Amino acid sequence: MLELRAVSKAFAGPDGETIRAVDRVSLTVAAGELVALYGPSGSGKSTLLFLAAGIAQPDAGAVLFDGHDLASLSRRAAARHRRTELGFVFQSTRLVPGLSAIDNAALKLMAEGATRTEARRRVAPLLERLGVVARAEHRATQLSRGERHRVALARALSNDPRLVLADEPTGSLDSQRSQEVLALLAEVCRERAIAVVLVTHDPAGAAVADRVQRLRDGRLTETTGAVAPVAAPQLR
Ligand SMILES: Nc1ncnc2c1ncn2[C@@H]1O[C@H](COP(=O)(O)OP(=O)(O)OP(=O)(O)O)[C@@H](O)[C@H]1O
Ligand SMILES: [Mg+2]
Repeated sequence: MLELRAVSKAFAGPDGETIRAVDRVSLTVAAGELVALYGPSGSGKSTLLFLAAGIAQPDAGAVLFDGHDLASLSRRAAARHRRTELGFVFQSTRLVPGLSAIDNAALKLMAEGATRTEARRRVAPLLERLGVVARAEHRATQLSRGERHRVALARALSNDPRLVLADEPTGSLDSQRSQEVLALLAEVCRERAIAVVLVTHDPAGAAVADRVQRLRDGRLTETTGAVAPVAAPQLR
């Protein structure tokens, strides 16, 4: 479903130096597969997610969704792709401060044309599953950081996306809560065959992942996890 082919993205640093935020990364994620991405701060995790989403454009390499290069889409088609097929959880959550939890979760469905009542009705079960339904009418500013992360996750899942890109969706949850939310994310994604790339610092991420990838200085360094690499046939 998602394929990154030798994708690179560099930034100019303050002294004109080149920062290779993402350096020739290749990665494929299939429907229903959950890939956990680990790496130290500054290793390029968020940049990689922005590239995978088509929010940022690579300097080199290609990002393919269902075999189509995102770079070949018109602006409109790219916007539509992001709106209908992606669920993105920003590291900073990006909730609208003055809106309630449930209205924040409902925003994406409303952007797609649902009425407020209909959108609220559809996201309520997600808030319930994520354990924040009791806070549904609280304004975003009145929520704890962990609650805001869960509302952002509900919003990302609300439109039944095919790919979820989640940037530390449990960044501020205690480990018990974090495990619950990650297990839930994995469950929802397997149920609906959603492909997931999950940036996390939490070791619990590895437990729910099919595959673990590590990023260091913009390079993927290793892959481990439940899916064993298929051995190449021996040619003699
Ligand atoms: N817009 C930008 N302009 C210049 N440099 C940037 C920009 N965005 C990211 N960088 C640099 O690229 C590198 C990768 O940043 P990125 O945000 O992807 O890291 P990260 O792995 O998500 O880190 P963290 O765990 O702290 O969120 C860092 O060195 C960062 O300073
Ligand atoms: Mg980041």
